[in-house]
Amino acid sequence: MKVIITKNYQEMSAKAARFVLAQLWHKSNLVLGLATGATPIGMFKKLIEAHKQGRADFSSVTTFNLDEYLGIPPKDAESYYTFMNKSLFNSINAKAENIHLLNGIADDPNQECFRYEQMIKNAGGIDLQILGLGPNAHLGFNEPGTSFDSRTHLIKLTPSTRNKNDKYFKNRHTPSNALTMGLSTIMGAKKTLLLASGKDKAKAIAEAIEGNVRTQVPASILQWHQDATVIIDEDAASKLERDYSSPLLFADGDVEVLTKQDLPEKKKIVVISPHPDDASISMGGMISELAKKNKVHIVITTSGYRSVVSETKMQDVIAIREKEAKAESKILGTIPYFLQAKFYDAKDIDKAINQDIKKLSAFFKKIKPDIVFVPQVNDKHPTHKLSREVALKSLLSYNKKSKSSVSIWGYEGLWSIFAEGDFNTIFAFDEKVMKQKMKAIASQKSQVQRTRFDVAAKSLAQLRAAIVPEQALVGYGAKAPKLPKYIELFSVV
Ligand code: PGA
Repeated sequence: MKVIITKNYQEMSAKAARFVLAQLWHKSNLVLGLATGATPIGMFKKLIEAHKQGRADFSSVTTFNLDEYLGIPPKDAESYYTFMNKSLFNSINAKAENIHLLNGIADDPNQECFRYEQMIKNAGGIDLQILGLGPNAHLGFNEPGTSFDSRTHLIKLTPSTRNKNDKYFKNRHTPSNALTMGLSTIMGAKKTLLLASGKDKAKAIAEAIEGNVRTQVPASILQWHQDATVIIDEDAASKLERDYSSPLLFADGDVEVLTKQDLPEKKKIVVISPHPDDASISMGGMISELAKKNKVHIVITTSGYRSVVSETKMQDVIAIREKEAKAESKILGTIPYFLQAKFYDAKDIDKAINQDIKKLSAFFKKIKPDIVFVPQVNDKHPTHKLSREVALKSLLSYNKKSKSSVSIWGYEGLWSIFAEGDFNTIFAFDEKVMKQKMKAIASQKSQVQRTRFDVAAKSLAQLRAAIVPEQALVGYGAKAPKLPKYIELFSVV
């Protein structure tokens, strides 16, 4: 079970939507199990937004909702059928014939449950089941005590569930019975995604995730699911005792697409730039956006004086490159730090590296970074390799003392093209951001005059945008999602 804790409801919804989109991009004819209630509404909004932006095509998706009230006709204002139309289906392009909800006014409710099971089976089973959680830990309407073996069935709602849902029923009480997928039906989904937000879910979440698996806590059965993810906000997580903090900002296993609005905020970020221009050439789009809402420090590891082709003295060349780096920082809104790594000129590299590590650890201690960007693991350029080594060893030594969790992002650059499968994070951005990136790179005059790094960086971002959506998100021959014009790639570990 993968547990992801987010700051608040909005972040939970955004991550949940990304999770669903990742599945949809992998399989355009996704069979999606859906839930009703207040919890998934934010996620639905994000899915609708993605659809409107052309990033989510639901035309081949089949859906099955978890439950429906008994005795409430689909057209009723309070039916889950109406709820789903209003909150999702009316705003996306799923085909009516592929949308399935239990019929609350079927002549024979048991037969209706059987029919529903058959339809799920005929669709090839559910690929991803979205789940909300009752304060009593019910899943769907499987109230405490429901058998783990249950298939879709008729159930009597508990007084607490009825009281909670009364707010939706004007001048009437919540129906006393409902039809719901069973716990065994839910466990049959290939993936499950449980969402919960708010303090009133904290006890149920703690019991479901950390308590014993037992029928009195229906959601605890997810501990036995082979591919269960839980995304909850800090309030819902407030009674958990284990530590779920992970260096990852999101679920692993899938390629994540980040656009501007998905980037971290209010974090302390360090970007390791082996030479003064590596950071902007490799990830200038990401940096310019991050710098708007975070404090971004660029550690310029070496002076890079060897890359200036001129007769000028070494000290003069260093001065030129520092001046260019400072000019770039003004454009990007970042803070430069010149490490002046000793390894760059050292005869005894090991000794020099140790001195560099000491210096950089002290810098980390002062900054206390949340995220550190480094050249990706397969970057073979000797200065990049050593910069990465110094950065990671410095982090390790800083971390040993501070015990803080830092997430490490490897970036792709012109000297280290990712192979397929090497990256797990895409940052897609538009022309405006690319302009900033180009401005930043252009400020490294001594370098662009020597080699057209600006042209190369832009071309790489375009090349990535042309091939990555298909290669990494949907597979060959499938319809790739439409993303903004440029892409930078990362490997988040
Ligand atoms: P809620 O309902 O999302 O409105 O809290 C969830 C549930 O009761 O299953």
